[in-house]
Amino acid sequence: MRERLLAAEKVVPIRWHDGSLYLLDQRQLPLKEHWQRFERSSDVATAIRDMLVRGAPAIGIAAAFAVVLAARARYAAGGDWRGALAADCQQLAEARPTAVNLFWALRRMAECLAAQSDDTALQALEQEALEIYTSDREANLVMAQLGAEVIERDNPHPQHIYTHCNAGALATGGFGTALGVVRAAHLAGLVERVFVNETRPWLQGSRLTAWELLQEGVPMRLNVDSAAAHVMREHEVRWVIVGADRIAENGDVANKIGTYQLAVTAMHHGAKLMVVAPSSSIDMDCECGDDIEIEERNPDELLSVAGQRITVDMPVFNPSFDITPADLIDVIVTEKGIVERPDEEKMQALMCRKRLH
Ligand code: MRU
Repeated sequence: MRERLLAAEKVVPIRWHDGSLYLLDQRQLPLKEHWQRFERSSDVATAIRDMLVRGAPAIGIAAAFAVVLAARARYAAGGDWRGALAADCQQLAEARPTAVNLFWALRRMAECLAAQSDDTALQALEQEALEIYTSDREANLVMAQLGAEVIERDNPHPQHIYTHCNAGALATGGFGTALGVVRAAHLAGLVERVFVNETRPWLQGSRLTAWELLQEGVPMRLNVDSAAAHVMREHEVRWVIVGADRIAENGDVANKIGTYQLAVTAMHHGAKLMVVAPSSSIDMDCECGDDIEIEERNPDELLSVAGQRITVDMPVFNPSFDITPADLIDVIVTEKGIVERPDEEKMQALMCRKRLH
């Protein structure tokens, strides 16, 4: 399966080449494939904030490479370069609040730096960023297989799957989390059709997930977010499969706004909910979902469509994420293994395990 997944890889959102960071501008996809080159960490912080790069693991990876860019510039300037670098890292940390992968990656980079002398620091930081990148890709390959096995054990026949937002290659170092499982399930003949929520207001579903699935020939159909209950009733959806921006110690999951109502809808219709995320998305410092900061984004995302104003000024509530309580989740798939019906005890046991790959 690993080889078949590798052969099917079509989309890569992040490149590190000759000491420069290149990001595929996700705001312009799928109509335009524009790569932007980054030399300064402040520009990467802006790119994360403005969602040129998005998706929990991808913003962690981009931030790690931004630290390499910042360290190089600060070291060359001399003086208290480590102090100046800490300020750059703080700026990156403030780019977006919900996905814990950002803070996880910055902590790993800080720990790496602390263990190095000035002579070895730059090379070690670059190695660490590359390791964060490649291990995310590896984790996704492991999760893809584990998730597909769960689906096959449950029902070995082609079935209807439902997904929300984009937890695909574009959101990660490669292959994707939730969409990685969908890919592996498709290769194993387990997918009759994937229903894709368009995912208002940023349209990660119609612009990114649909694009990824179409490129790989996975049978899919796009629908408006509010069709979820109707689709589930009419089309016997077996699995809802989503990613996560942060998973709390008790198994509560922060993910794209709309995931919670999808989970409630799934439970009513007998569809199972699978959350797929690397262990870098698990935050054992958050006891439960209430401890997770939910990002609120610009009202313009609702007042305008594709830059075109569609209504008058008014108060807007635009949370970018919501919390799905653990008791609505059938299984969490990570690279360390799977957790069925998550709770605090099971999450703690999972986090004690070594990585599988
Ligand atoms: O606002 P976004 O597009 O960064 O939100 C992305 C999501 O909610 C994804 O589902 C999540 O980050 C998992 S990506 C593997």
